[in-house]
Amino acid sequence: MTQKIQAIRGMEDVLPDQSALWEKLEDACRDVFRQYGYRNMRTPLVEPTALFVRGIGDATDIVEKEMYVFEDRNGESLALRPEATAGIVRSAIEHNFLYNGPMRVWTTGPMFRYERPQKGRQRQFHQFDVEALGFEGPDVDAEQIVLLARLWKRLGITDVELQVNSIGDAAERKVHRGKLIAHFEKHASVLDEDAKRRLHANPLLILDSKNPAMQPMIEDAPRLGDVLGDAAAAHFKGLESLLGEAGVAYRVNPRLVRGLDYYNRTVFEFVSGSIGAQSTIAGGGRYDALFEQLGGKATPACGFAFGVERVLLAMQAAGASAAAQLDVFVVHSGEAAQREAWRLAEQWRDSGRNVVLGAGGSFKSQMKKADASGARYAVIIGDDEVASRRVTLKPLRDGGEQRTLEPREALTQVS
Ligand code: HAM
Repeated sequence: MTQKIQAIRGMEDVLPDQSALWEKLEDACRDVFRQYGYRNMRTPLVEPTALFVRGIGDATDIVEKEMYVFEDRNGESLALRPEATAGIVRSAIEHNFLYNGPMRVWTTGPMFRYERPQKGRQRQFHQFDVEALGFEGPDVDAEQIVLLARLWKRLGITDVELQVNSIGDAAERKVHRGKLIAHFEKHASVLDEDAKRRLHANPLLILDSKNPAMQPMIEDAPRLGDVLGDAAAAHFKGLESLLGEAGVAYRVNPRLVRGLDYYNRTVFEFVSGSIGAQSTIAGGGRYDALFEQLGGKATPACGFAFGVERVLLAMQAAGASAAAQLDVFVVHSGEAAQREAWRLAEQWRDSGRNVVLGAGGSFKSQMKKADASGARYAVIIGDDEVASRRVTLKPLRDGGEQRTLEPREALTQVS
């Protein structure tokens, strides 16, 4: 027998029984993003490798260990995108689409990182990514956080903690960096291999290490918050006051750093308490220097992304149902009934109802399918119904008696 071909490890199929949940999330995102004036855009899955090396930083896990890099037939080095921000900024510079002023944009799609697969972590995963390009004030940082809080509420996700921090601007990061290196050098004996390698390249990322042996030393490390300049401190204060006004609960986590190098000032993450070890469902922050780093004009910006698979886990943990959004399943038996069923299904679709037509066969087997379909009602058409020009309407989910009605009357019941 010919051997079967299987999906690549860490790259998952989304099967039809999951799609209602995906659509629920996608619909909610589109609605909420629209409410805040974010417009959709799409960038390629494949970009020049240099975009991510320059944008995300060459001493990050993503660029060092996780990127899918390959040469195309011309020998050009290309990468599957590990995230969306660098591509969006490239596109904004290339098309100069901020010529008319700042712009709010969002995108969605698969991202690729060669990580060890586990619950909530794939090699191909999906993000919704939101970026406010050209905005300087902390009001936009706050707006994005409030937007996410609104989204969680709409999706029924409550077991989630917001952590915020300021990692300052370039000058104070430089001062902090010097202090960090000195601190780590003092504790060189507890540094692991990764930390040693990063000591001079990217010491901030050492703070992100999960190595238990290094935690006491990390706890004692000098804090950026203590060396924040006036402008960055005022920005952070502004953010805190807006979050307070909006009634969004948060915790300042002075240890919060992000795995990508482009951030400055505000960084934030939402962490779920109910989806296991890979618990960060969303993360983002300000990246005021990225445009220049990628060859554009200085442009302040702020954004975030969330992992679709992780948010779906959180929705399921909160009891969200994956049932299809179907109004009616039409059960029919006999040739005349089948014609009637077909006609009625099209008519009801004209009126905006979601209608699935049974495939015929015995009433019993069709009723089983109707029950399993997630539809709210079964419409039953047999010889009797054809003869009396009526249909039998049976509620499938919310209880209630089945009734035989004029089709028009039945339609109004299915509202
Ligand atoms: P990130 O923190 O690398 O940020 O990823 C954002 C979210 O994507 C994570 O919080 C997580 O929910 C999800 N995620 C990341 N890796 C995986 C994975 N291997 N499997 C499943 N889910 C994953 C960024 O990507 C930035 N571009 C966010 C941003 C936008 N910052 C500014 N603008």
